[in-house]
Amino acid sequence: LPERATRVRELIADVPDFPSPGILFKDITPLLADAEGLADVVEAFTRLALADGVDVVAGMEARGFLFGAPVAHALGLGFLPLRKAGKLPPPTESVSYDLEYGSAAIELRSGTLTPGARVLIIDDVLATGGTAAAAAQLVEQCGGVVAGLAFLLELDALHGRERLTGRNVDTLLRVSTPSGG
Ligand code: PRP
Ligand code: MG
Repeated sequence: LPERATRVRELIADVPDFPSPGILFKDITPLLADAEGLADVVEAFTRLALADGVDVVAGMEARGFLFGAPVAHALGLGFLPLRKAGKLPPPTESVSYDLEYGSAAIELRSGTLTPGARVLIIDDVLATGGTAAAAAQLVEQCGGVVAGLAFLLELDALHGRERLTGRNVDTLLRVSTPSGG
């Protein structure tokens, strides 16, 4: 992010003990509500995408949609929603991943990803990296090439980057205090 990074950072609110005790939630709703802040973030993502040589943008439900779709539009590209299990009609491709309690799955509608396409995967937060690793696996399972993964915020303390070793990972802002969400 350019010179306005400080302003963008201030538009992300810290909410202690949400959604559970001990978690410091990063609330992006003030940023989304701010015209300049939203534009700055979309523009910063767009520059990364151009550098990576991208054919299509993908984003994870739900907050990955909020940045992924505007970035795709700004680049003149299509958007692939990677949805939580059970939201898309069949046929779908699916990847399961572990959560702190239990497991989850993300899905892509079969036939929407052109085999060989270079995909930029976008989400708001890189925390443990479980969601992002599953998204990358899903893109590859569908015949795509992961050109890169880009996040608004990286929570260093949770070491999500280690789950993405060998991949092209970019983050616009980093947070070095322990947190979650
Ligand atoms: C949040 C966040 C990331 C993910 C990061 O999504 O938006 O997608 O967690 O965590 P991880 O790196 O540990 O996997 P979540 O599914 O909680 O909520 P959302 O539907 O609001 O995006
Ligand atoms: Mg999410």
